[in-house]
Amino acid sequence: MCGIVGYIGNREAYNVLITGLKRLEYRGYDSAGISILNSQSSIYKCKGKVSDLERFVSGNNVSGTIGMGHTRWATHGEPNDVNAHPHKSFHGKFILIHNGIIENYARLKEKLMALGIPFKSETDTEVLVNLIEYVYEKGNSTAEIAVRMALSEVIGAYGLVIACTDEPDKLIAARKGSPLVIGVGSKEYFIASDATPIVEYTKSVIYLNDNDVAIISREGLILKNLQNDNQIPRIHQLDLDIGEIDKGGYKHFMLKEIFEQPRSILDTFRGRVGTELNAVYLGGLYNVTERLVEARRIIIIGCGTSWHAGLVGEYLFEDLARISVEVEYASEFRYRNPIITPDDVVIAISQSGETADTLAAVRLAKEAGALVLGICNVVGSSIPRETDAGVYTHAGPEIGVASTKAFTAQVTVLAMMALLIGRKKNVLSEEQYLSYIKSLTEVPGRIEQILVHDDEFKRIASLYKLANNFLYLGRGYLFPVALEGALKLKEISYIHAEGYPAAEMKHGPIALIDHKMPVVVLATKDSSYEKIVSNIQEVKARNGIVIAVVTEGESVITKMADHVLEIPVIDPIFAPLLAVIPLQLIAYHIATMRGCNVDQPRNLAKSVTVE
Ligand code: M6R
Repeated sequence: MCGIVGYIGNREAYNVLITGLKRLEYRGYDSAGISILNSQSSIYKCKGKVSDLERFVSGNNVSGTIGMGHTRWATHGEPNDVNAHPHKSFHGKFILIHNGIIENYARLKEKLMALGIPFKSETDTEVLVNLIEYVYEKGNSTAEIAVRMALSEVIGAYGLVIACTDEPDKLIAARKGSPLVIGVGSKEYFIASDATPIVEYTKSVIYLNDNDVAIISREGLILKNLQNDNQIPRIHQLDLDIGEIDKGGYKHFMLKEIFEQPRSILDTFRGRVGTELNAVYLGGLYNVTERLVEARRIIIIGCGTSWHAGLVGEYLFEDLARISVEVEYASEFRYRNPIITPDDVVIAISQSGETADTLAAVRLAKEAGALVLGICNVVGSSIPRETDAGVYTHAGPEIGVASTKAFTAQVTVLAMMALLIGRKKNVLSEEQYLSYIKSLTEVPGRIEQILVHDDEFKRIASLYKLANNFLYLGRGYLFPVALEGALKLKEISYIHAEGYPAAEMKHGPIALIDHKMPVVVLATKDSSYEKIVSNIQEVKARNGIVIAVVTEGESVITKMADHVLEIPVIDPIFAPLLAVIPLQLIAYHIATMRGCNVDQPRNLAKSVTVE
């Protein structure tokens, strides 16, 4: 899970690479490196962030118009200067950056070491670069042939940019399992893990497919597969603006993304649902609607926050469409022996569209003959390209590692799907259907009303910023929100937090409650309101601190809780879209008050493209 950038053209490559690496830092940020392919072709790399690399490079000659850069999230070998990329081959002819994992690296390394080839780092990447040079030196005439032959021996995942000093006006890019996009300019090409480093230069891009190898010079690009068959490069137009990937005046991307939610949700349902449309239109599902309506079962797969959105989807599909739903961690699902039939519909949810476990689960479900759909945010990413059909969330780029607007966009898509199927199956009357559509369109405005209370969320955050533990409780539609609130807090503030179905508290977690334990209770007005009031009493009876998320105007819990966070009235099925907002903001404020880097939390990466 690293970020890679390459450039070949007539600009100063250094600037393109450094700006690009900063955009890709969400993918990994434990070390960074760069190489400009000039007369020296030096490699500069160090532990730390891209800003550390800039300081490290400063004063050196990095002038040149071809180069590559890397920002790392360690898999093999600790984050340090030596293990950082780029890596150079043993005789220095090849320079390479890599995102992914070479699974058979140990065997390959043993073989190369037995041949007397030395290694400096602990990485799987150095094995790859040495293997390429070994194949090249055995007499395989060009860098391209050596790359293709070496990659044929490799098991694992890679997105690569490779340079050979014998062929100085060329870059080679190759992909298997890890995303790679090539931006096409006029006599210049940009290579990157996603389109964000490219968009300010060109909107024409080529998404590499697995086993593709691109041989790139200023004069043009040749696309082949590993077997040397020519491939036709298909140029897509990016629908992404540079403004969308800046912080836009906010201190952190996460904060910007939280505040963007009224607009991002609107973008998610724009043209798909609306009071003037009086219906749900999901173009991406047009050809599969009948199969969806006839589905015996829906299996939702995802990881992290996307899995939480899937849990909300379970309630939505069961309530609105009366379809049986199972929600699975992609990482568990793919390694079990799951029973999947052609009557099943599998929905993969992923912001990035690149999560390795979710992608592998998609492939498994396809092999079993299920209809496989994707709900993804990144256009052109691997999951939407491999699924039978799907719906993009259109939430715009999510840069903060903690997922916020992707969650609300995913839940919005799931709600639209459940409404569409529910109506087609006649589970919902026309009147219910229209009433839900109206409620959904009110969500962005209601979120605006919550966001104006940010100062209050910040005040409460300041009271509990030193807590060691938090408990989050919710029932029904709000149980997944409890899980999501706990995940947000733990991943960015490093406070231990757990989400629980409120009724489960009595079966164990209640033992944790004392006067130091903040308990965030999701207690809006719905069918389980009375029960949640009892749960709050149970916490208060043990001197726990209750921070309750309640419906505006609520009076009972307001008297019992230590703090209340009000959200506007909304149909309970859409309450997750509102209730999650205060939890995102409280986590954000606690983390910043504790001095944590919320956009780049320790040990994490935005896109988990390794298992
Ligand atoms: O890109 P994806 O939605 O597939 O990513 C899944 C998880 O890695 C992601 O949601 C992760 O849990 C976030 N850090 C949560 O904020």
